[in-house]
Amino acid sequence: MLNVLVTGGAGYIGSHVCVALLEAGHQVTVVDNLCNSSARSMDAVQSVTGRTLNFTQMDIRDTTGLVSVMQARSVDVVIHLAGLKAVGESVQSPLAYYSNNVGGTLSLLHAMEATGARRLIFSSSATVYGVPDFLPYTETHPTRPSSPYGHSKLHAERMLRDLCHSSGDWSIVALRYFNPVGAHASAELGEDPRGTPNNLMPFIAQVAAGLRDRLTIFGDDYATRDGTCVRDYLHVMDLASGHLEALSYSATAAGFHAFNLGTGQGTSVRELLAAFEATNRVRVPHEIGPRRAGDIDAFWADPARAVIHLGWKPRHDLADMCESTWRWQLAHPRGFQ
Ligand SMILES: NC(=O)c1ccc[n+]([C@@H]2O[C@H](COP(=O)([O-])OP(=O)(O)OC[C@H]3O[C@@H](n4cnc5c(N)ncnc54)[C@H](O)[C@@H]3O)[C@@H](O)[C@H]2O)c1
Repeated sequence: MLNVLVTGGAGYIGSHVCVALLEAGHQVTVVDNLCNSSARSMDAVQSVTGRTLNFTQMDIRDTTGLVSVMQARSVDVVIHLAGLKAVGESVQSPLAYYSNNVGGTLSLLHAMEATGARRLIFSSSATVYGVPDFLPYTETHPTRPSSPYGHSKLHAERMLRDLCHSSGDWSIVALRYFNPVGAHASAELGEDPRGTPNNLMPFIAQVAAGLRDRLTIFGDDYATRDGTCVRDYLHVMDLASGHLEALSYSATAAGFHAFNLGTGQGTSVRELLAAFEATNRVRVPHEIGPRRAGDIDAFWADPARAVIHLGWKPRHDLADMCESTWRWQLAHPRGFQ
């Protein structure tokens, strides 16, 4: 049993990670400033697991506050998800992204240094790779992000690498997530975007539920099999289990290690839409609009490294992702509000 600090644990992925940690018997402490989430997700985590966690509303840039939480809870290991994640917004407000994602990570590392915690699992992103030289992306693909968001993740990874070079005490795993979708099987937890969703799956679900008129597909003239963008969607509970496997790995593997977490399957926007309609027997009105600036035609993961070294195996297929999203949408049309 570990005492795990989860930064950003009230958010979409963090809340599912908390479920996986509690079910594995770990003690969980969450720090989140709730800038993009609700404390009600913490109630939902406790209700679906029947276990309690410790929650503190705090900004991770408050290093002194972090130190006192970590000391009070005897934190052994940190899962660091707190951050901002909207690519478009990062172009408009780069300093907010560098402050939260780079400054926040730096503050957390100072707190870890002060308290003696030396194991960290970091939420990185496939956006660190940028325009593909080859596909699928392997972890050795060049890193050339095309947005301040992607740069902020790469800067954070750079700090983590440098720290591991400075001392052999650190054990840090960066998980480069592809496109997490879906919801917990209880339908009590799921993605709860504020305002207009930036991601495709919650948008589809809101259109299917009649909360929005139609989906606009951003471009159908990409160099892909049906002209729409191709991404690697993975179920959020498979992503959550990857964190447990990374925790085990970090117990013996010193240094910095990066792993892709994606299924290795590319799915186009049209294919995801068709899967959602067929699985849930609903219609999703849609139209084709112009391309969105900065979108890459296609990318997907080579997850072999995570499969071999972490023993990670995604278990859920596209139908599970669509079905769990729809059940969460129906059960909570207004999310946690
Ligand atoms: N969802 C995706 O598609 C995706 C893909 C790749 C990587 N990631 C990364 O995974 C992590 C979690 O993503 P998510 O989808 O769950 O997003 P989310 O917005 O639902 O969760 C992030 C959480 O961090 C909190 N937070 C943000 N800044 C903070 C700060 N300074 N101090 C304390 N708390 C803060 C937010 O309130 C939120 O609860 C992020 O770091 C994101 O960049 C997400």
